[in-house]
Amino acid sequence: MAGKATITDVAARQVLDSRGNPTLAVRVWLSDGVTAEAYAPSGASTGTREAVELRDRDMAVFRGKGVLKAVAMAKGAVRSRLLGMEARHLAAVDAVLAELDQGPEPVGANTTTATSLAVARAAAESEHLPFYKFLGGGERAPLLPMPQFNVLNGGAHAKDGTDFQEYMFVPVGATSFAQALRMGAECFHALRDVLAGRGLPTSQGDEGGFAPPLAHNEDALELLCRAVEQAGYACGEDVAFALDPAASELWRDGAYHLEREGVTYSSAQMVDLWERWIGSYPIVSLEDGMAEQDWDGWRQLTERLGSRVQLVGDDIFVTNPTIFQEGVDKGIANALLVKVNQIGTLSETLQAMQIARRASYGLVISHRSGETEDTSIADLAVGTAAGQIKSGAPSRSERVAKYNRLLAIEEELGAEASFSRPFLAVAPAQA
Ligand code: PGA
Ligand code: ZN
Repeated sequence: MAGKATITDVAARQVLDSRGNPTLAVRVWLSDGVTAEAYAPSGASTGTREAVELRDRDMAVFRGKGVLKAVAMAKGAVRSRLLGMEARHLAAVDAVLAELDQGPEPVGANTTTATSLAVARAAAESEHLPFYKFLGGGERAPLLPMPQFNVLNGGAHAKDGTDFQEYMFVPVGATSFAQALRMGAECFHALRDVLAGRGLPTSQGDEGGFAPPLAHNEDALELLCRAVEQAGYACGEDVAFALDPAASELWRDGAYHLEREGVTYSSAQMVDLWERWIGSYPIVSLEDGMAEQDWDGWRQLTERLGSRVQLVGDDIFVTNPTIFQEGVDKGIANALLVKVNQIGTLSETLQAMQIARRASYGLVISHRSGETEDTSIADLAVGTAAGQIKSGAPSRSERVAKYNRLLAIEEELGAEASFSRPFLAVAPAQA
């Protein structure tokens, strides 16, 4: 029986995410008695071409964000189509889910995401495999990812903060995940001291990073450097930076509006800004440096900076194999941000990752700003040997749950564990 278990039941429940908004938990049962559950995350600075969540839109309840319709879809249309299917044939299960989301009554990407993950979890359990091993499909040796810790939040994740959404620590000098997490946490605490020392607030944004109202976006980089040094590390050699300005959020009428600074930039000026920052600070990765609507700007960015820094496409590719392939063909970016709920199923996510590998693009597995205690992305990162993960600050349990899961996997793998160091060859600029 092992491994051939079929789906015998599917149930769903409305729960809360880390922002206090409803999201979906889906549980599946298999014929061998195994059961598993998964949760859907939810973004705030979403790409326009992302798969769409199904929400109730009843403004009197949870401000319209209820997911009882999605719960009903999981228990109804999804359940009746999945009953009897073999859980280990995830591609077939996901094809049904994708079809149901494209039908006349879409079941919602929140429904498909939670269901796809729950079925995969159950299949792993049924085959007595750790989830990461199941997801890896035996194709690659497990690899612990280099984390990007989002420690300073702005944009759509902290309205009073900087124009740019995410400033992240990357502990490039770490030699294990446990060490990387320790370095990230120490620098995070040092950053709190640096902010407090300057009389700045230390309240936290949606992803657990601090959200100080800074006069200039560039001030953030100087604060980050001070924090790294105060924690006893070398800025650039031990800990470098990654940025996700989420530039689509700044794009209006063909230009970039940096409201905090009161300036408007053309695409070329935006690339100039990134070039200057990359020359002045130890930045190893820049995600969504240009807007999803600005493919021409993206091409300029890639031509000018693609050989010097990792350029990650999030909103522009939305983990969609077709859109991403078009980007690869046009020579846009050199890395893919991977969010399962942007496309809606694990199988399509793995397909997008396959395209990235063939094109020698980097891979960064990502959480969403609205998260839960679900740790699936930690296993996804290890099993597929993606090499990098971002799950927010080393603070707040919905962020830390993924990092703690990675600690457990590293321990479980013991001598077999290897840790990704993608930026070893980079000689970062000194601040
Ligand atoms: P989101 O942000 O989850 O709000 O979309 C995360 C990101 O832009 O990477
Ligand atoms: Zn992003």
